[in-house]
Amino acid sequence: MQPIRRLLLNLLASVPVVLWLSKSGAQQKLPATPAQPEGPFYPREFPKETDPDLFHYAGATAKGIPLELTGRVLRSDGSPLGSAVVEIWQCDADGDYLYDAASMRSADPGFQGFGKTVTDSTGNYRFITIRPVPYAGRPPHVHMRIKRDGKNLLTTQMYIKGDGAEKDPFVAHLSGAARKLLFAELLKTRTGFSTNFDIVVAGA
Ligand SMILES: [Fe+2]
Repeated sequence: MQPIRRLLLNLLASVPVVLWLSKSGAQQKLPATPAQPEGPFYPREFPKETDPDLFHYAGATAKGIPLELTGRVLRSDGSPLGSAVVEIWQCDADGDYLYDAASMRSADPGFQGFGKTVTDSTGNYRFITIRPVPYAGRPPHVHMRIKRDGKNLLTTQMYIKGDGAEKDPFVAHLSGAARKLLFAELLKTRTGFSTNFDIVVAGA
């Protein structure tokens, strides 16, 4: 067989496979990030700043270890969910939440406690916060909420691999596969930690 003819035949033979692969890829369902309870400390009063840098607030710097928290918000088919509002809230380095005027007076004055951002067209978000700490019998966690077009799409909590959060009652009842979706792995950086935490929103 002529080399060119063989090449053409090979190319033709591969077309259905490529089409099948791309079709099955587009239909692939990603498992949704499990919902978690909102908890009692979603702010009743918001801090004066609500930007995605929780590590600096009102000209001061937070106590605790800085954490760069990045990730993507995705639909179940793997496509990015752009223009989604991502909110996070967590306690300060001493385990105190900042959720109303009284708690704002007693919590770390350098920690913002709550922040929000909007995903870009590729679904990416980014926060600077502190490595979460345990409080009141709960393992370290960051509360997260995804909103779009004024609707709450998901409220969840992110836990840290290696902190023993598997035993937490909010987590223990989940299957191993579902539980994995709530755990982020911390990487050591020059100044603290970074982590990547992707969130899959069902029905978005
Ligand atoms: Fe909490």
